[in-house]
Amino acid sequence: MHQLNLSKNTEKKLINTFSYQTFAQKLLEPATFDYFAGASSDEITLKANQTDFQNLKIVPSMLNDVSNINLKTTILGTTIATPIMLAPVAFQSLAYPNGEIETAKASSLLKTIMILSTLSTTSLEDVVKFNPEFSWFQLYVFQDKKINLDLITRAKEAGYKAIVVTVDSQYSGKRERDWLNNFNLPNHLKLANLTNYQFAKSQNKTSSWLHNFIDDNYDKSFTWNDLESLINSAQLPVFIKGILNVNDAHKAKSIGASGIIISNHGGRSIDTAITSIQALENIGSKVNSPEFVIILDSGIRRGTDIFKALALGAKAVCIGRPYIWGLAIEKAQGVVKIVDILNAELTTTMGLAGVNDVNKITSEYLSHA
Ligand code: FNR
Ligand code: LAC
Repeated sequence: MHQLNLSKNTEKKLINTFSYQTFAQKLLEPATFDYFAGASSDEITLKANQTDFQNLKIVPSMLNDVSNINLKTTILGTTIATPIMLAPVAFQSLAYPNGEIETAKASSLLKTIMILSTLSTTSLEDVVKFNPEFSWFQLYVFQDKKINLDLITRAKEAGYKAIVVTVDSQYSGKRERDWLNNFNLPNHLKLANLTNYQFAKSQNKTSSWLHNFIDDNYDKSFTWNDLESLINSAQLPVFIKGILNVNDAHKAKSIGASGIIISNHGGRSIDTAITSIQALENIGSKVNSPEFVIILDSGIRRGTDIFKALALGAKAVCIGRPYIWGLAIEKAQGVVKIVDILNAELTTTMGLAGVNDVNKITSEYLSHA
């Protein structure tokens, strides 16, 4: 399944995130590729996640000194070498054996933050050893409250620096590719963080095992009050992932979250949902402050996309699928290459737009704002 010695010819063609996707599709089982690449229903949001970035235009400024370009930024006191972080993505060992460990190694090499999914195929305790400085843990809120508290305690004890609570997946989006493929985890992989807990027996409502697992076990009654209590007891900074609505962004700030990740889950939750970059246009200038960090994901494929997100008030972005393609092709090294490609594209964009520091990209460089 994995072809690690890339021919010179293939290597020469791997010049952007799209060519990585094309090549990964050749390596992965079709059902696995569909799980990673797919999204909900008609995949309208998946597509819009790119077109909305493309429709936003950059207004460059000339004759500035751009001989040194700075990509470093600081989040919660941690300096990261690039504003590109690694989004939580489940089941990474489907892309490459011990996938989460490979991604963690890349996070260390890149000096950027990786957010480990609740649904990882290696336990949170084992993954953090490979990127102790740059590790955040993503939490799905289960109906069984003991599991949630236990996961937060384990993450804290293992040395994770923040908790990311994902709030956009209380029901599974209708991922029709997974239904058609009877998506399931192969027997040799497990939900490594969850082996000690009991879950509701699945009703087999759909032919996607994951869809059934989410619908049967995630907490659908979880509200802002519950989240506030969770933040107050977590003893770690908490980010809220999946915010798209400006009122929710204000609430997130008022209940003491350290920040939000504006995200439509890569188009995998509500189809036809607003794109993250549009949501950021509504939210960015209204809730931005040095103490409240805004991160954006969903649809980042080019350095220009990152530039636009930072211009509208994001401190950093996360990428999901692009690094999974890197992982599938060349394990940790592939993840590093994908981020390097985006770093180089961002550097070129900044140089040509006339801004030399990621912390100084403002909406003045965009025609919409
Ligand atoms: C995800 N995402 C996700 N989010 C989360 O909070 N926990 C998770 O376990 C997962 N799992 C997951 C699996 C796969 C295959 C994908 C593609 C996505 C969502 C992810 O964190 C992020 O929001 C999107 O991937 C961002 O969109 P792009 O960069 O993939 O377009
Ligand atoms: C996904 C879930 C696991 O997007 O969040 O596949």
